[in-house]
Amino acid sequence: MKKKQLIILIVLLVFGLIQFIRPYRNLQTNPSRYDIFHKTETNPEVVMIVQQACYDCHSNRTAYPWYASIAPVSWMISQHVKDGKKHLNFSEWTLYSSEKQSHKLDEIVEVLQENEMPPQPYVWLHKEAAISPAKKERLMEWLNQLQQGNVLK
Ligand code: HEC
Repeated sequence: MKKKQLIILIVLLVFGLIQFIRPYRNLQTNPSRYDIFHKTETNPEVVMIVQQACYDCHSNRTAYPWYASIAPVSWMISQHVKDGKKHLNFSEWTLYSSEKQSHKLDEIVEVLQENEMPPQPYVWLHKEAAISPAKKERLMEWLNQLQQGNVLK
């Protein structure tokens, strides 16, 4: 066997083998009773924007695309989700203290103003997650209401 073929074979073999290292998958099945939108009268439009733009990384349930099953992409996604949830988890929102909620609201406003979230590479792959100026305005209104003391119980 020629050296080049051997290298290709080894690369394929390694690629095949790493597929057995399956990362944690963020797939809670029943809706969370601690979710920010659980038992609230939030405008469905706002709910949809936030779920589409933020829930893959900031909730207990990720909608995985097909390529998310393929290592090493699966490992990267798993790390993003873990990281995202550590900073902010909408599925566990009502477990946060009021201070933490209000701090998180400030952070959310900030990342939206700076167009930091959702991360740009994610938006390239998920067009529906893009925050248009109109969507941003809706979100800011909603966040403003929450900041005015309507902290969710
Ligand atoms: C593709 C995954 C992903 C999506 C989608 C996403 N985030 Fe994030 N987010 C992260 C990660 C990872 C971090 C932590 C690391 C960092 O700060 O970059 C984070 C951090 C944050 C933080 C904390 C920032 C700080 O200063 O600590 C806030 C607030 C936030 N995201 C809000 C949002 C909002 C609101 C949306 C939807 C509009 C959203 N994110 C969408 C992955 C994501």
